[in-house]
Amino acid sequence: EKGGYDHFMLKEIYEQPKAIRDTMAGRVKDGQVDLSREIGLSEDQINKIERIHIVACGTAYHAGLVGKYVIEDLVRIPVETDIASEYRYRNPIITPNTLVVVISQSGETADTLAALREAKKAGARVLAITNVVGSSVAREADDVIITWAGPEIAVASTKAYTSQLIAIYLLGAYFARIRGTRAENELAHIVTALQQLPEKADQVLSDTTSIQEFAQEIARHEDLFFLGRGLDYAVALEGSLKLKEITYIHSEAYAAGELKHGTLALIEEGVPVISLATQEAIYDKMVSNIIEVKARGARVLGLALEGDQELHKSVDRVFTIPKTLPLLTPVLAVIPLQLIAYYACVSRGYDVDKPRNLAKSVTVE
Ligand code: M6R
Repeated sequence: EKGGYDHFMLKEIYEQPKAIRDTMAGRVKDGQVDLSREIGLSEDQINKIERIHIVACGTAYHAGLVGKYVIEDLVRIPVETDIASEYRYRNPIITPNTLVVVISQSGETADTLAALREAKKAGARVLAITNVVGSSVAREADDVIITWAGPEIAVASTKAYTSQLIAIYLLGAYFARIRGTRAENELAHIVTALQQLPEKADQVLSDTTSIQEFAQEIARHEDLFFLGRGLDYAVALEGSLKLKEITYIHSEAYAAGELKHGTLALIEEGVPVISLATQEAIYDKMVSNIIEVKARGARVLGLALEGDQELHKSVDRVFTIPKTLPLLTPVLAVIPLQLIAYYACVSRGYDVDKPRNLAKSVTVE
């Protein structure tokens, strides 16, 4: 059942190219995204959307953070991403032209479901991104985009996250076409880049030796930091959650620009730092943050784009991912982070698929 892999988590990490492909299938044609068959929102309704709230828990919330970035960039609608257990109790501003997007792998998470119900009660239209056909979230939402990741067994979510990202890109591109916020040729360019992702994800998975070595190194530590800016920060949060969840190593993800506002005090000789530097527009800023932590003795793994000539000068180890559009890099950047968590967990000898104190589906508050 594990298909030759030692654990479900590793199997699911390696299933990501397929999950990405399957989530796009049938929704992309001739350089265009078409979701009109699955979501009932009319063009008029899409044009009237004034704000979007993305609501979810855990890894799905992290996908939602990427969603804020992507949708605001492509569609120019203000997006707020919220943790479901916060949203449901905080009297959010919901108007008839608010679209609430709930994201849930299982479709059964208690807080997410409650947030969905609150949003509906307040008159919002609710669109669900979920991996389970017929789940509570799928049944109660007005519109549903299914992520075709297939069953996810490991408690630590991997392929569900990457397919949630794909669903978000599709939604963003679809709305952008209807609202005319991006030119047809730009959108076609995004679609082409999306279609290349499965192959690029395969490439990331094809040689993980240096990731495994780094994972073994950090397995001996008790504290670790992830740094990133922009979309890299959203991915850093997900990498940090993955690591905590299965290796029990304390870790924190920081927006690199915040270092000087407190965290830098924690960096001392030998502390491992994973720095993401995949966003070209803010690359130089990131490098200067890396130099700052290096100067305090951190042991730095830099995650960069293929062809990077700079990063090796300031870090201890570099891992590269294939180039894609900046907006799409989270799909590739998260994979090495998932693998670091996986191999560090194996090296520590913990139960990969069933971490302590956690359940796959959190159906109670
Ligand atoms: O089924 P859901 O997507 O609603 O689950 C949300 C979280 O419980 C889930 O993503 C959790 O954070 C994962 N175990 C993280 O790997």
